[in-house]
Amino acid sequence: MTQKDKPLITIVGVLGKQGRSAARTLLQSGRYRVRGLTRRIDSPEALELAEQGAELVRLPLALGYKKEWVEAFRGSEGVFMMTPAIVPPATHEMELGKQLADAAVEAGVRHVIFSSLENVDKITEGKMFAPHFTDKAKIEEYIRTLPVTSSFIYMAFFYTNLIEFYPPRMEGDTLVFPIYLPKDFRAPFVDPLTATGPAVLEIFSNPGQYAGESLPVIGEMISPQEMVDTFTRVTGKKAAYSSAFTREGLLHHFPEFGSNEMLVREILGMVGYAVEYGYFRKDRHLLWSRQINPNSLSWEQFLRTIGTGAIGQ
Ligand SMILES: NC(=O)c1ccc[n+]([C@@H]2O[C@H](COP(=O)([O-])OP(=O)(O)OC[C@H]3O[C@@H](n4cnc5c(N)ncnc54)[C@H](OP(=O)(O)O)[C@@H]3O)[C@@H](O)[C@H]2O)c1
Repeated sequence: MTQKDKPLITIVGVLGKQGRSAARTLLQSGRYRVRGLTRRIDSPEALELAEQGAELVRLPLALGYKKEWVEAFRGSEGVFMMTPAIVPPATHEMELGKQLADAAVEAGVRHVIFSSLENVDKITEGKMFAPHFTDKAKIEEYIRTLPVTSSFIYMAFFYTNLIEFYPPRMEGDTLVFPIYLPKDFRAPFVDPLTATGPAVLEIFSNPGQYAGESLPVIGEMISPQEMVDTFTRVTGKKAAYSSAFTREGLLHHFPEFGSNEMLVREILGMVGYAVEYGYFRKDRHLLWSRQINPNSLSWEQFLRTIGTGAIGQ
């Protein structure tokens, strides 16, 4: 197959964790051409992807670009789309997702994969507030009404949250991990940088099999205490769990969140939902991502992959 005969997949958010993973895996498969949308077309990450063969288009993930998205999606067999974290009080995630999906349909795309999540509002009958879950579910509902084959992946909590958003701090000789879940509560976690791609490749490769499916992507079910113990075993560093599960715990560790009450409510709503109802609906196929990708990283493998010095500098 010559390069130009390969089906083209366009990736929205191509420099994000999910997007980079999808781009790398699709390119490495040798079966697809990849186009990616980013504002940071000259960044080192963008240049690296371009070197691997991706075509990059300079476009932001913001409202008001539908016409440009239609152009960018043209000629694509598939689109892998995600919506970025929208920090409250901004609330445009749903509108953004709908516009992206509309643009894909208008461009004649055959298969859309959207990175969705559960409808927390519906599952909890309005008791828990987690709009960045529910809005994705509403985008999914909308996409299902469109004349296009669609499939959905549901990413577990990212391992990277413990580095990127809730980083540990040294207290005396101990690295303290402020974690937003109760100490012994096992939750689904995943490495988005290595797990997204295999899921996306599998689905684009078998559109008939996965049409209309919503599939969780999980590395490991693990509790905060197990994560901390594993960290100590892998790195030899003394470490401890500290709760950021309650409002007091969260604001004690991250006082900066205190200036955004909506964000605090959203974080507490999300973790309250995960603990009380389970992160994934009970009927989801929790083993799927491991079956199609036996190399999914456990937390321990993730720590070994990023290097033992990467956390707690
Ligand atoms: N953290 C978790 O545990 C978790 C679990 C499940 C799902 N999720 C969801 O995953 C998504 C994040 O995925 P990710 O980490 O792969 O992506 P990401 O790195 O947050 O974002 C992907 C791309 O989106 C663009 N972007 C980000 N914020 C933007 C903004 N405010 N305005 C315009 N463009 C923006 C950036 O593109 P440029 O290249 O143009 O800069 C970025 O590279 C969120 O929707 C989150 O809710 C997270």
